[in-house]
Amino acid sequence: MRQLLPEPLDEVHPYDACRPDDPRGSLVRVNFIASVDGSVTDRQGRSGGLASAGDQAMFVALRAWSDAILVGAGTARTEGYGPHRLRPSLAQRRRADGRPNPAAMVLVTRSLKLDFGARIFTAAVTPTIVLTCASAPPEGQQAARRAGRLIVAGDKDVDLAEGLRRLREDYGLSHVLCEGGPRLTEATLEARQVDELCLTLAPALLGHGGPRLVEHLGQSVPLRLQHLFDEGSELYLRYRVGRSG
Ligand SMILES: NC(=O)c1ccc[n+]([C@@H]2O[C@H](COP(=O)([O-])OP(=O)(O)OC[C@H]3O[C@@H](n4cnc5c(N)ncnc54)[C@H](OP(=O)(O)O)[C@@H]3O)[C@@H](O)[C@H]2O)c1
Repeated sequence: MRQLLPEPLDEVHPYDACRPDDPRGSLVRVNFIASVDGSVTDRQGRSGGLASAGDQAMFVALRAWSDAILVGAGTARTEGYGPHRLRPSLAQRRRADGRPNPAAMVLVTRSLKLDFGARIFTAAVTPTIVLTCASAPPEGQQAARRAGRLIVAGDKDVDLAEGLRRLREDYGLSHVLCEGGPRLTEATLEARQVDELCLTLAPALLGHGGPRLVEHLGQSVPLRLQHLFDEGSELYLRYRVGRSG
């Protein structure tokens, strides 16, 4: 892929394209792919129909930099999320950058309607974490504890600021990649916890009225473009996220 901003480079590896400003610092990144008319799903209600090889390369490179991969239970159920594995070349680069273990998957849920016998729990190298709130069913909380790790943050909804603080302080997971979906992203933005938005702009007009990256926010969120890459007709944008409306 080619880098267009901040300065032109003919060829850049996706891992380098995703390098954080401070690889040791704490960071919350959101990653999405959207069509030019703004849909984040294909006609089947999944993101797969939008993705290309270039987007997939960015998706795994962003994972390779992260300590935790945060995902809403809706997306985990729709997309059939499994355990996280990196291909050897990326795992090697990750180790060289001081991250010996794979990132933990973190599932955000209120209902705890999760399959605790699924491979995302049973085949995880780094234990999967369930992030829920106090009002979640107690028997589900016990099942989550038995299957992996459980964090309870907030009462009726997950308090994302508290949940992200617990990931950092209890487990040392300070670089968090949020893979959506829209409702989790809205909650994370509303909690003013997002530092960066990585967006793949897929070269298509889908025209089926699919969901947007976010649909409801209390106030607008300013974005500042810091990096821009392209491959063919696809664009990869890295925005710094402002904290005020
Ligand atoms: N294009 C892309 O890059 C992309 C990325 C991700 C997802 N998607 C698409 O987006 C769609 C799913 O989006 P979505 O917005 O419906 O789902 P979502 O944000 O993935 O998940 C929503 C669910 O997450 C839990 N949740 C989120 N925020 C919470 C909070 N603050 N407190 C407690 N629980 C919380 C709840 O789980 P419970 O129901 O278990 O309580 C809620 O029902 C799918 O079609 C997926 O394919 C696209």
